[in-house]
Amino acid sequence: MAKSVTFFSLIEADLDILNNNLKNMVGAKHPILYAAAEHLFQAGGKRLRPVIVLLAAKATINNEQILDSHRRLAEITEIIHTASLVHDDVLDDCSTRRGMKTVHNTFNVKIAILAGDFLFAQSSWYLANLGQLNVVKIISKVITDFAEGEVRQGSTHFDISVSVDSYIEKSFYKTASLIAASCQGTAILTESNTKICNSLYLYGKHLGLAFQIIDDVLDITSSSTILGKPQGADLKNGNLTAPLLFTLSEDKKITEFIDREFCQKDDVNNCIKSIIKSKGIQKSKDLASEHIQAALTSLDPLAQNNKYVTGLKELGLYTLARLN
Ligand code: IPE
Ligand code: IPE
Ligand code: MG
Ligand code: MG
Repeated sequence: MAKSVTFFSLIEADLDILNNNLKNMVGAKHPILYAAAEHLFQAGGKRLRPVIVLLAAKATINNEQILDSHRRLAEITEIIHTASLVHDDVLDDCSTRRGMKTVHNTFNVKIAILAGDFLFAQSSWYLANLGQLNVVKIISKVITDFAEGEVRQGSTHFDISVSVDSYIEKSFYKTASLIAASCQGTAILTESNTKICNSLYLYGKHLGLAFQIIDDVLDITSSSTILGKPQGADLKNGNLTAPLLFTLSEDKKITEFIDREFCQKDDVNNCIKSIIKSKGIQKSKDLASEHIQAALTSLDPLAQNNKYVTGLKELGLYTLARLN
């Protein structure tokens, strides 16, 4: 995450603590498992989810004194996210992540499955140790949702009958569920009232949906160097995302690339060109922007003169600005 953004300075010191703790938390006895798990923590990543949890914790608690359980939840959230990436990269056959070789590419698929499981298990252990049954229930449901989202995606590869609504639903399971649940869990730890807990849930849900739409646009418009992961991967895999679905509704020609599963040499590039020429990117940006607006409105019940609430709003706008 760019350190120059204002909301970042609000939690910068907390993020240093988090990064230190993460390294100590993933202690595997077997060196291969340890290396596989450590791999991604060393590489970093934007740490978007812990930043949200830390800001939400400070936005809901008195005197900015966040609880140890808030910190732990931020760490758990990043471990769950990282575990999901290790498995996702196997499913998407993705060779790089966070600017490094993926776990299955460094070791092999079996190790990557075990390393992902290991990280999920570690997160469950720390989650249970929070001793807050409500939070355990909410967060553990997220791991079920990942599987739901990935299976929905995997079973509709190259399927042009997929609607934008079902794409959004799938994106909820795959991405927004974790962000929504961790926001709600943060407010529960603060012992905020139900209205605040629900507001933060909605903030996380809409921000998560926008984040996935934006990731899907960047897969088409950005570069592998900037992303730290291969560009154009969604098309190759037959993962029909918002920009492509919107393009399909105005340019039926791209159906031929999808029907032959991008098997000819320039199919991916030509399809990207068609998407860029169409209104697909703009319509996707508009959809992401609607979800960011919904996320910001969800924060209305929180104190508006609070700098951390402002930070959460800035984070929403920053997410959208990744597209500029
Ligand atoms: C990647 O998430 C997976 C999606 C939900 C799009 P991030 O883009 O937050 O990945 P890192 O943590 O920064 O590597
Ligand atoms: C997000 O989807 C994956 C998870 C939330 C597990 P993507 O497949 O688009 O994520 P990237 O593009 O590989 O980071
Ligand atoms: Mg992927
Ligand atoms: Mg992606």
